[in-house]
Amino acid sequence: MQPEFAGLKVNGPRLWQDLMEMGAIGITQDQGVTRLALSETHMAAKNWLISRAREAGLEVEIDPALNVICRLRSVRSSGGKTLIAGSHLDTVPNSGRFDGALGVLAALECARVLLEHGLTLPCDLEVIDFTDEEGYHNAGTIGSRAMLGLLKQGEIHEAKMKGIPTFAQDMERLGYDPNKIVAAKRDPSHMKAYLELHIEQGDQLESSETAIGAVTGIVGIYRYDIRVVGEANHAGTMLMQRRKDALVMAAPLFQLLPQWVRARSSKMVGTIGQLTLEPGAMNIIPGECRFIVELRSMESQDMIAIRELLKEWVASHPGSSIRTILEKDSVQVAAPLVDAVVRAAETEGLQVVRMASGAGHDAQSFAKYVPAGMIFVPSKSGKSHCPEEWTSPENVTKGCQVLLNTIIHLAQND
Ligand code: GLV
Ligand code: MN
Ligand code: MN
Repeated sequence: MQPEFAGLKVNGPRLWQDLMEMGAIGITQDQGVTRLALSETHMAAKNWLISRAREAGLEVEIDPALNVICRLRSVRSSGGKTLIAGSHLDTVPNSGRFDGALGVLAALECARVLLEHGLTLPCDLEVIDFTDEEGYHNAGTIGSRAMLGLLKQGEIHEAKMKGIPTFAQDMERLGYDPNKIVAAKRDPSHMKAYLELHIEQGDQLESSETAIGAVTGIVGIYRYDIRVVGEANHAGTMLMQRRKDALVMAAPLFQLLPQWVRARSSKMVGTIGQLTLEPGAMNIIPGECRFIVELRSMESQDMIAIRELLKEWVASHPGSSIRTILEKDSVQVAAPLVDAVVRAAETEGLQVVRMASGAGHDAQSFAKYVPAGMIFVPSKSGKSHCPEEWTSPENVTKGCQVLLNTIIHLAQND
């Protein structure tokens, strides 16, 4: 490490204050946070970031996918590769204060520390808040995939469920042109690396009393929208033996899915977390049952095997259909990047463990094209996507310091 960077420390209390301020945007009755992508609260969070970044002296740009890019230009190089650090400010409904926000605000803190010491890196540094990581509209990781040119044709015009706007409709509502989203694509050969600090969202770190996880790979995610069609009718007058109740027709699959997944591999998971009934009233027999099946594994073959079982089930249930929302394979983090995170933690005297991520992240969009690494910090009781999500101020500071050390190391080395 060049001498001017040695011993540089992040300001933990300032980062904590930022996290708490961000956590107040979209706060819910249960002290959780709801910032659905492109909602009023999500846009308020983006605006908060824009003013904080400008105050700190960063250049701010909003790209055509509404990603907020905060840039610290290097005085030493122009036209060189850019180092990117970030995550997302959108949340799932009634989520916690740390998922996504930590990665964005910690990256901002790193840039701020460099600036206040009058330092710039040998390359440009960008702090990015990626839009719709959580998949409120459809498949998720929209902003980061738009940046890498990975959006599927037409996907921003599809909604995952009835009653939810499409990403394109929400962009239009906000006065942006959805057709311009392709212009968010950038050339990955101009990117040096991507780094993301994130809460673990599991309990491995806490239970092993380890402060830092150096992520070695990110799980693959496949999602399917399944519709089972029956016949809506009066719930009081139609005899049981004459009904075509779409929920009852779909119900065997709800038991089969976990059986199939468990039989396939102890390391894969399958979930039905979203379901709607149409017309959806207590005195109407459901005419349609629509739900989303999500599969996760490090092995694509596991997800393909279950996908084929789902397709067979659908084919043998007339009136049912299946639509692919997302098929994203797992990624491995390049070994030198994992090593860089391990060294960055060890320099601080911190315990560090190498581990895979069971949650999806924007880092996944980068990993095939750019060295993309992740740093995990402990989640209290392994809780996430709920108001109880918590990481202590000490662990937040440690994670941010490891992020800064890794940024400095990568900026100075090829
Ligand atoms: C994001 O949090 C995901 O893993 O779905
Ligand atoms: Mn999440
Ligand atoms: Mn996240």
